[in-house]
Amino acid sequence: MKNIVLIGFMGTGKSVLGKRLAKLLKMPFISTDDIIEQKEGRTISEIFGSLGEQYFRDAEKEAVKGASAMEGVVIAAGGGAVLNEENITNLKKNGVMFCLTASAQDIYERTKNYKHRPLLNVADPVTRIKELLAERSMFYAKANFQIDTTGKSVEEVTHEIIKWLKKV
Ligand code: S3P
Repeated sequence: MKNIVLIGFMGTGKSVLGKRLAKLLKMPFISTDDIIEQKEGRTISEIFGSLGEQYFRDAEKEAVKGASAMEGVVIAAGGGAVLNEENITNLKKNGVMFCLTASAQDIYERTKNYKHRPLLNVADPVTRIKELLAERSMFYAKANFQIDTTGKSVEEVTHEIIKWLKKV
């Protein structure tokens, strides 16, 4: 059975939706961020702070490789995993890829009270979100489906994804 792969910017709901989908479809849920934190024994913020982003991206590549080799799982990939072409290829090999999208303002509202995302711990997060969205749009476009989550409930988006899954 194919994996369901969720990509998209931070705060677009990959983990929440992934867990919901996994429960409904009785599939295991896997998050590349969780795999990295477990393997490294520290949080993503700590990894970025002490070892730097490149170290994190290398760990992410390994986590993606491991997750992509599984079958019949729901995978939430970290928001920047798509920056590496190899990650996209691996995730798509055995998976249907959905990109969750939301407006910059929505992303800001959803992420502003959480401090575990080092890339957004800056003086002007809205500008940073817009810059990163612009830099990454061509990578996010590589998913099989684009799902706009703006103004939608978890249930609505979950059912939208299930509807698409029935057609593939
Ligand atoms: C990142 C997204 C984060 C996490 C790390 C870097 C990114 O995951 O992997 O902070 O570059 O967009 P989420 O998208 O699950 O927040």
